[in-house]
Amino acid sequence: MGKAKYRLTNLATSKSSDLDVLSGTIGPDVVDIGSLWHDHGVFTYDPGFMSTASTESRITYIDGDAGVLLYRGYPIEQLAAQSNFLEVSYLLLKGELPSAAKLDSFTRSITRHTMLNQSLLRLYGGFHHNAHPMAMVAAIIASLAAFYHDTTNITDDRHREIFSHRIIAKIPTIAAAAYKHALGQPFVYPRNDLDYCSNMLHMFFAVPCEPYVVDPLHAKALDLLFILHADHEQNASTSTVRLAGSTGCNPYAAISAGVSALWGPAHGGANEAVLDMLEKIGDVSHVPDFLARVKDKAAGARLMGFGHRVYKNFDPRAKLIREMCHKVLAKLGQTENPLFELALKLEEIALKDEYFISRKLYPNVDFYSGIIYRALGIPRPLFTVMFAIARSAGWVAQWQEMISDPTLKIARPRQLYTGPVLRDYVPVKKR
Ligand code: CMC
Repeated sequence: MGKAKYRLTNLATSKSSDLDVLSGTIGPDVVDIGSLWHDHGVFTYDPGFMSTASTESRITYIDGDAGVLLYRGYPIEQLAAQSNFLEVSYLLLKGELPSAAKLDSFTRSITRHTMLNQSLLRLYGGFHHNAHPMAMVAAIIASLAAFYHDTTNITDDRHREIFSHRIIAKIPTIAAAAYKHALGQPFVYPRNDLDYCSNMLHMFFAVPCEPYVVDPLHAKALDLLFILHADHEQNASTSTVRLAGSTGCNPYAAISAGVSALWGPAHGGANEAVLDMLEKIGDVSHVPDFLARVKDKAAGARLMGFGHRVYKNFDPRAKLIREMCHKVLAKLGQTENPLFELALKLEEIALKDEYFISRKLYPNVDFYSGIIYRALGIPRPLFTVMFAIARSAGWVAQWQEMISDPTLKIARPRQLYTGPVLRDYVPVKKR
């Protein structure tokens, strides 16, 4: 680490500094500019973090040009084919794949933390029936801080571990309760004999008056989606969790902040927006008109589910989800699913279009995920909640990594001030 140097010279004063270049295990080097303010009295300016690494991390690696995604070094394709969401959650949290005994113990711990305090359930009654589930999920997760405030000492390893397990375990229950509240149906308690995704489907779709049998393909499809969404290095919601968590706040509050950041259509909210877009387009014959509007910047339309800050090639998750779409729809007998066909055609046309080629815009994880959620009967406002359930594993892993770093500092960016200079207050009568 730190062999190469970058020389920074102020051409007006000729003052120079040699900045260390740090190398990771793979990926681009970074220039350490931590001493810039001290040595030169200037900040760097990089809105949107276009060229700024906000942290060092050992969890997830993306090569956006090659379309590569690794969790703790393992390719996403291998994990998608051979692992399951809880094993991937363990991997993200602990850094290594678990032995059979460790996986068993982790799975048991997650399963035993799925219930919600009854007082927490009563909070749902305060929400209007048509409240957006992301608003309910963010609020209920923030409320967990009120329930576990005194037992969440972030300097205690065991407390941190219990917090991580509680988040991964309770978030499907929290989501299901939000759904049941919107429907006006009784809340369905978790079943510890079911695996993570089957239990989630059970809590969503069972009713007390008749048995509900989970379709294993539905649970498998959900599990795949959860693996693919589990972490994605320093994306906006994860960075939000890290930024909030860097203050030492109650970690449930930090995760709630992450849920809120995920909600936006430029981030996790895109899966909901893709289906809205496909329905508005309606038919393949309308694709050219729609794409013309997307390319006309003045129209302000975007091809939702396309483009990514890091991937300038196929998002490997989109390919895997597209394959799963074929399987799920075939199993459901929906081989002629008009929205999926429209999405495939839209992708084909966009990928041949100079606008998308020159900007390296490809389908991202959100382009096809909504098609599967819809086929599984999950209502559209819950699509982003599904993303939040999966990303909870990444959020807690990234939060753990940050809090256990002894060099942790509060995240406190600086700014380029362009407001008024010093002026005197004018009393209201004289204005
Ligand atoms: N449709 C049309 N044009 C686009 C799109 C799109 N989906 N995405 C980017 N562009 C254009 C953009 O207008 C710009 O063109 P120009 O150079 O002529 O000004 C160029 O491509 C670069 O785009 P950008 O907005 O500067 O790129 P960014 O890295 O800031 O934004 C993004 C990344 C994901 C926010 C953006 O691609 C986007 O808005 N996509 C649609 C929303 C979406 O699908 N979001 C999910 C992202 S993946 C999952 C997740 O993070 O949750």
